[in-house]
Amino acid sequence: MSISETAKILVVDDEKSMREFLDIMLAKEGYHVTSARDGEEACRILEKDTFDLVITDIRMKTIDGLGVLRKVKEVNPSTVVVLISAFATAETAVEAMKEGAYDYIPKPFKVHDIKRIISEALKSSQSAVQADASPAKERLHFGSLIGESLQMRKVYDLVQRVSGTKTNILIAGESGTGKELVARAIHNLSDRRDRPIVVINCAGIPENLIESELFGFKKGAFTGATADKEGLFGVADGGTVFLDEIGELSPVIQVKLLRVIQDRTFTAVGGTDVKVVDVRFIAASNKDLEAEVIDGNFREDLYFRLNVIPIDVPPLREREGDIPLLAQHFLEKYSLEMGKDIGKISAYAMSILQKYPFPGNVRELENIVERSVALETSNIVLPGSLTLSNLRMGSQPAEIREKRSLDPKGIELDKVMAEIEKGYVTQAMEMAKGSKQRAADLLGINLRSLRYRLEKL
Ligand SMILES: Nc1ncnc2c1ncn2[C@@H]1O[C@H](COP(=O)(O)OP(=O)(O)OP(=O)(O)O)[C@@H](O)[C@H]1O
Ligand SMILES: [Mg+2]
Repeated sequence: MSISETAKILVVDDEKSMREFLDIMLAKEGYHVTSARDGEEACRILEKDTFDLVITDIRMKTIDGLGVLRKVKEVNPSTVVVLISAFATAETAVEAMKEGAYDYIPKPFKVHDIKRIISEALKSSQSAVQADASPAKERLHFGSLIGESLQMRKVYDLVQRVSGTKTNILIAGESGTGKELVARAIHNLSDRRDRPIVVINCAGIPENLIESELFGFKKGAFTGATADKEGLFGVADGGTVFLDEIGELSPVIQVKLLRVIQDRTFTAVGGTDVKVVDVRFIAASNKDLEAEVIDGNFREDLYFRLNVIPIDVPPLREREGDIPLLAQHFLEKYSLEMGKDIGKISAYAMSILQKYPFPGNVRELENIVERSVALETSNIVLPGSLTLSNLRMGSQPAEIREKRSLDPKGIELDKVMAEIEKGYVTQAMEMAKGSKQRAADLLGINLRSLRYRLEKL
């Protein structure tokens, strides 16, 4: 079969107006359409002719949608079946999915959704045929990075090119886009791969400990220093240091770090001898570091040292083509982990995911899929088990702008903003049932920023 415009579709519906509507709409799309007035006629046609796809109503007299599905699976199992279900027949629809239907379209539907689901269903049957032909064909991935969008290919290309060098790299991108995976991919492709990659979360180490953590300390350097201890830079010798959330470093530590990066030397706390290390630095930030430099929060010299080669990891909403690949990957991961047999995300559920803007990027997608695997009771992820935030659907910022008109008497902007913030933060915590990470994802901010805002409340 080809997904060319000449794909053959059988439309089955006992309601004349619906049948005609589908007939015309699909013919307009360029498909070759045949229609059947009921399940019995459909079965007769199916015995004589083969189709690429059958779209059938569920509730029909004598032979219903499930009956048509069974007939299709009997005469030509490679034909894909899409069902149209009213609310009352949702259970049957789920039943049908278990028997091999590709997806169901709940009524009322949008023409746009039908068109997409049909074209996806046709593609899926084609790729199933291809997969049979070459079962070894792997999904494109790069290290543990998944995605084959143009934007990600550019990232892979850059990773490949910089991995052989020793230059410092700054990885920029929103929270959850995969910056750490990119850093690990660079390390694993480099000739440093047999030495450690040490991840330092610059936001996580208390300022008074950061020096002893990074540089190590000598016995007796401070109370509690009962023996010499090697610091993280020492551990990373010959390998890679990944400085995560570099934008959170205090000015004092920024100076000390600058010295290590410039001279590749450091001194343990309480020590005197200068140690030389061979490390490659990769830094990451979800803040706009250039803006931080302009605002005077980040040292310019350090910025230029780190930013020899910038790599931008694009947000997920700008590479929605990667959503199905990632979703399927996480589905397999969590099904296995939870010992469930859920192999597929329904096309309708997938179309919902592809419209979602993912403020928390890949991490949020992973969380959504994980939850749906936990919640799902059938063997396919259906829209009902997707827990997306409605808050984020649609064009929120524009709506907010439009609804608020400025009081001619003037306002206190800071107070108003604080009120808005409080409202959203509280709502997000409620929706997330107390999970801070989830609440932060809902608000499109990172965990640290959420904690800060919660403290303010
Ligand atoms: N392209 C990808 N393929 C597979 N998994 C991914 C991809 N991108 C991100 N992930 C997964 O998403 C989660 C977040 O990724 P990661 O920690 O690398 O993001 P990050 O950009 O460092 O986020 P943050 O700024 O919040 O630290 C991880 O569980 C990671 O495995
Ligand atoms: Mg990270």
